[in-house]
Parts: sequence; structure tokens; C-alpha cells
Amino acid sequence: MNPPGLDHLLTCLRFPSVSTDSTRRADTRACAEWLLAHLRSMGLSGALHETPGHPVVLVKNKHIPGRRTVLLYGHYDVQPAEPLAEWKTPAFEPTIRDGRIYCRGATDNKGQLMAHVQGLAETLAQHADLPVNLTVLFEGEEEIGSPNLKPFLQQHREELKCDVVAISDTGMVAPGVGTFTYGLRGIACMEAKVYGPSIDLHSGIFGGAIANPVTAAARLTATLHDDEGRVMIGGFYDGVRPVQDWERKAWNELGDGDAEMLELTGSPALFGEPGYTERERRWARPTAEVNGIGGGYQGEGSKTVIGREAFVKLSFRLVPDQHPDVILERAAAHLRAHLPKGVRLEIKPGHTGMPYIMDPHSPLGSAAQRALKKVFGDKTALIREGGSIPIVQAFKDVLHADTLLLGLALPDCQAHAPNENFPIDNFIAGVRLNQALLAELA
Ligand code: BES
Ligand code: ZN
Repeated sequence: MNPPGLDHLLTCLRFPSVSTDSTRRADTRACAEWLLAHLRSMGLSGALHETPGHPVVLVKNKHIPGRRTVLLYGHYDVQPAEPLAEWKTPAFEPTIRDGRIYCRGATDNKGQLMAHVQGLAETLAQHADLPVNLTVLFEGEEEIGSPNLKPFLQQHREELKCDVVAISDTGMVAPGVGTFTYGLRGIACMEAKVYGPSIDLHSGIFGGAIANPVTAAARLTATLHDDEGRVMIGGFYDGVRPVQDWERKAWNELGDGDAEMLELTGSPALFGEPGYTERERRWARPTAEVNGIGGGYQGEGSKTVIGREAFVKLSFRLVPDQHPDVILERAAAHLRAHLPKGVRLEIKPGHTGMPYIMDPHSPLGSAAQRALKKVFGDKTALIREGGSIPIVQAFKDVLHADTLLLGLALPDCQAHAPNENFPIDNFIAGVRLNQALLAELA
């Protein structure tokens, strides 16, 4: 027997709401419309708000003066499902195997979002009310950096006024272990294009006399790190807040993470900035990552050609108190200074998001931890996360509200990868978490 609300999650998962893919625009919108209709059918009222990109779903219960106001955020957009051949069952046909739902978006973020929605539905069905003033804000552009949500916050500042934000879009350290995330890394993306000859050339006729853009792009990329994994951009680490002693202790108490990292990633060895544990490297240290590199012939067999251009797609994960704009400037200066001879460089800055950190022992943080205890038992892990939710620091800047990050994602959820999955047990726990959280916050 499926638990209550699971069918709604499965319906939500069938919309291929890939925000980055313009051919999925109508599907993405249909997902937003479905969510709105579902929330309205539960007794909440609100509307879709148009943006230059995908619409925002905004609904509320009846706000009563004097009650605490909670803003529940989630995203209904998902990452592309490619490579499709790697999926054991179709990416947008939710399939249950061994108690887990397999589908793009199962964990990130539809499973977690719909657990909250189901929690609200059950409370409303039982009591015809919620214990707090609730504002639900679901966006369709998180996976592309939330470009239209920050202006939306500014425009709807009054309507969105709240005491605290709650989000389930982060991880749990292990199945069944309540996990409170008090920090997220920020992000800054850029693309570097390296141009050489004005046309593709025969590599026998011309090779040796001109610079090859692919070689230049590879050499340039290699200047970003030293042999041990430190980022070599001048000033990159300026302002990075050191890991606090209590954090180091709390994270070490989670046990040795190295073996799990090897297992989860399938990498032959761990590698990263010297002097830090794998968790410190992922949660509290900034990085430079190459997300894509290309140029020249990519087809079958060989082709003796010198391509006219090459590209490198980069993203930097940032920690307090780095600023994405400063990092983009410094990275651009580094690339310009290290450009090999004989090619031309063009830099396209991409989307950015600020890092976030809060005090997990604040009154609201403690309320969230009590809610986790009610659902998962006494031991709560206090962690930061390496991933980014770009709007979270904007909630602080624009609405002056802290965000409680109560994740339900398992380490092996395969978010952003083929065979993404979400355990039905986590859905059930998420329904209870929503109810416990609103009760504690009330
Ligand atoms: N849910 C993730 C963020 C996340 C993942 C937080 C793992 C903590 C642990 C979110 O949907 C996401 O993937 N964000 C993107 C944002 C980016 C595209 C601006 C990310 O982190 O890459
Ligand atoms: Zn994601």
C-alpha cells in the first residue's frame, strides 16, 4: 500500500521540468500549474507569478496577526536527465524498486518538496488550519541559479515578509539520522573560450606553425590548481573563514568519512587541499571545478584537424566570507595572465549565488533540531553542505530571515546523475518533519 500523498509525488515527478532546456518550457510551466492547483485543492490560496523565466508558485493560508510566519521554499525544476542510456528505467517515469522511487527530481527537489506539501495537506485536513502563518514559495529556476527570484523577492518584499524560511533540499549524513545544515557553499560560474585560427585547419599542413586552441585551453585549465589541489588564483582564499574548533569536532564525531567517499564516488583515491579532512574540503573550503572542456574533433575514430576554438566551463564553490563577483574578477584576471601565446581569450561570466551560514544554536535553529529529534530520534548531525541554494542568502539580505535547512536526501540519492532516487521512508519521514517543524516553530 502506498502511503498517503505518494501518488501526488509520482504525478509531480512525471513533468519533465528541466529548467535549462528551452524545449521543456511548457512542461516546466505545467508542473507549476499542477502544483498550484494541488495546493489550492488543500485550501491554500494564491497564484502563479510570471517572471522572464519560469513561473513562481506563491500560496498562503489565512495569516493571523500575532502568529509566527514561516516561508516554505522548494524548487520544482530539475536538472537534465542526460545521459539517458545510463538510466535503468525511464528518467521521467517514476519507478519503485526496493522501497525507493527512481526518477529525475525524486530527491532534488520534488520528493522533499512534496513531503512538505503532504504534511500540510494532512494538517489542513485534520484541523482546517495550520499552527503558523504559512507562505509557500516554489520556484522553477533553482537549478539555473535562480536568476529571477532575487528581483521577485525585492518586488514582493511585503507579501513575503516572514520570521523564518524552511527548506528541505539538502542531505542527511546517513539513513535515519536527522541532519541540520547550517551552512551552504556559494557558487560563481564562468565560461572561457579560447580562439585560434579563423577556420578549422588541416593539422598536417598547419600543425607546428600556429597555436592549437585545445592545447591552450588545457594548459590554461591546468594553471588553476597546484599539484596538491590548492587553487592558484591570486587572492582566491582572501576572507575565507577558518573552520571553527566546534565544527571540526562535530564533523569528526560523524566518523571517518574517507571510506564512504571512495565508495560513493567510485574514485581510485581521495584528493584535495592539504590540511583538511574530506568533509572540511567539501563543506568549508572553496574550490575551482572544471565542469566541461571541449574543442576539436569529438567523433568516432581520428580526424587530423586543428579546431578553431575550445571552451572550458568553470564553477567556483565559495564559503563565507568570499563574494562571487570578486572571485569572478580574480579568476578572469588569472586566466588572462596565464593565457598561452598565440590564442585569444573571451570570458563569459555566469550565474552566481552567495554562501550562507547561520548559528545552529539560535532559538529558531534549536526549534528545527527539536523537530528533527521528534522524527529521527535523539542524535542530530550538525553539518554544512558543499552544494548551493543560491536564494538562501538573499532571503537573509532581502527578507532578513534565516533559513532552516532540514534535508532528506541520502548520500547515494544520485542527485543530478542517472538513476536519481528517493526512499519512500524518507517521504514518510518528511511528512512528519513538516508537521513537527510547524508545531515547534508555532
Ligand atoms: N539541492 C541542491 C543543493 C544541494 C545539494 C545542497 C547537495 C546540499 C547538498 C540544489 O538543487 C542544487 O543542485 N543546486 C545547484 C545550484 C546551482 C546550479 C546554482 C548546485 O549546487 O549545483
Ligand atoms: Zn539540484
